[in-house]
Amino acid sequence: MSESLPEGVLDLAGLREATFSGIPLGVVGWPVRHSVSPAMHTAALATLAQTDPAFSEWHYTAFELQPSELPEAIALFRAKGFRGINVTVPHKVEVLPLLDEIDSVAEKMGAVNTLVFEDGKLIGYNSDGYGIECAVKEAFGCNLRGQSVLLLGAGGASRAAAAQCVESGVRSLIIANRTLEKAQKIVEQISDGEVQIQAATSSDAASQIESGTLVINATSLGLRAEDSLPIEVGELPEGCLLFDMIYNPAETPFLLAGRMRGYPVSNGLGMLVHQGVRSLEIWTGREVDPQVMRKACEKSLST
Ligand code: ATR
Repeated sequence: MSESLPEGVLDLAGLREATFSGIPLGVVGWPVRHSVSPAMHTAALATLAQTDPAFSEWHYTAFELQPSELPEAIALFRAKGFRGINVTVPHKVEVLPLLDEIDSVAEKMGAVNTLVFEDGKLIGYNSDGYGIECAVKEAFGCNLRGQSVLLLGAGGASRAAAAQCVESGVRSLIIANRTLEKAQKIVEQISDGEVQIQAATSSDAASQIESGTLVINATSLGLRAEDSLPIEVGELPEGCLLFDMIYNPAETPFLLAGRMRGYPVSNGLGMLVHQGVRSLEIWTGREVDPQVMRKACEKSLST
């Protein structure tokens, strides 16, 4: 895959050879060449540099690396003076053994997406939960706290959202999945004894929720045009809020079906933006403007 890497994307050989001036940041994934993170972070760093010229020395690069290359890459990032790294699919769990410390919420999520080199230590955080919390607030004007939530899917994305729901104090949480055992496993891993959490099969879930429930699609259904719906939207009670973590395509069949029936809907662009905001805030200690990142994302996705 790495023979024809686009300009600006490096593989392990490229990382070994490169010298980085200033304060380097980056994203690691496989594949990563279509990631909007470089555009998003570069735009936000340029805005920070307008008020503090020190940020003109900061820059962000994409690295397309396989899981087996991660240990060497982390050692190289450390040696080359990197401040931080975003990790994306398939590295969010694979990188855990390489960390010196992990944030407690990220630990519950069982995955990290933001790494920081701090006083010689590598510390892992997960800003995906913050991203979903902010995106839901922005889209529907409600907090996760006190909300009834139906979470569709039981993969890595679902586990991060489920842990955030518990952290934020939702009123109730149902995790529904095609494979019930995987949903049950997440329930066991994240239960805190306070939030009412249960597992269900996708086909049973719609009949178990109340009006006004926030329904989050954390399955991969909708990435491809021919995908089926993650739940029968026609069976949902009235007043539900429909959130899809997918942002490309901008409107999945799930959101289209919801919009046609008059439900408020949102795709995952806001989640993408706000997880990026939090990552950059962790690295820089500065407040980051979501609008700058959103515009850069939209531009990058439309090209
Ligand atoms: P991620 O890390 O992005 O969450 P994942 O771990 O591969 O990705 O999880 C994909 C989720 O989409 C799972 O919940 C999966 O259901 P299963 O656990 O039953 O496999 C769900 N999913 C994928 N394809 C599906 C399909 N055709 N029908 C129903 N659910 C599907």
